[in-house]
Amino acid sequence: MPHIAVIVGSLRRESINRKLAQALARLAGSQCRFDLLELGDIPLYNEDLFDPEPPAPVQRMKAAVTEADAVLFVTPEYNRSFTPAVKNVLDWGSRPYGKSCWPGKPAAIVGASPGAIGTAVAQSHLRHVLVGLGMALMGQPEIYLTFKPDMIDAEHNVVDDRTRQLLGNHLAAFLAWIERHRPG
Ligand code: FNR
Repeated sequence: MPHIAVIVGSLRRESINRKLAQALARLAGSQCRFDLLELGDIPLYNEDLFDPEPPAPVQRMKAAVTEADAVLFVTPEYNRSFTPAVKNVLDWGSRPYGKSCWPGKPAAIVGASPGAIGTAVAQSHLRHVLVGLGMALMGQPEIYLTFKPDMIDAEHNVVDDRTRQLLGNHLAAFLAWIERHRPG
């Protein structure tokens, strides 16, 4: 069963993007294992903090990514880009030089916002960065979700049939993508 490290780009408790990640985990059932990484205690990137090792939360995050078969980014859009929490994790994971945890790792992006464009610009920026980091990024399908308050229930079920189908299609494509990029 593939193991997917999930990077949710929002740190707030009631994050709609965390709800989306939990709904995807629910939808996946036993097809894969989702591991939502804890990012709230990771400091802002500062090379001085390698003393001589990076801080423990950074080491924990990097080990989780290294052990995972793939990474799913679930990001909000902040001012027409992805969030600083995502960028911070990407920067930490890319250092020290030559010891990045990202190259070759299968990846996909989803995101939700209350607005009409549903994180399209954030995802476009993030694609650029992930390709630069050498990740094996899935190009299609894309999901730009305009989040409605009743879209996901308290048990993380997707209430609306069409949204559930969209998410299910994305998940199936990502699982096939992970399989295709399995080492060896
Ligand atoms: C936003 N929001 C937002 N939404 C959007 O569609 N495009 C944008 O550019 C922005 N910009 C933005 C900047 C900042 C600093 C904040 C805090 C918010 C609104 C955003 O989509 C909304 O707050 C989501 O609920 C954030 O995601 P989480 O935290 O609920 O997962």
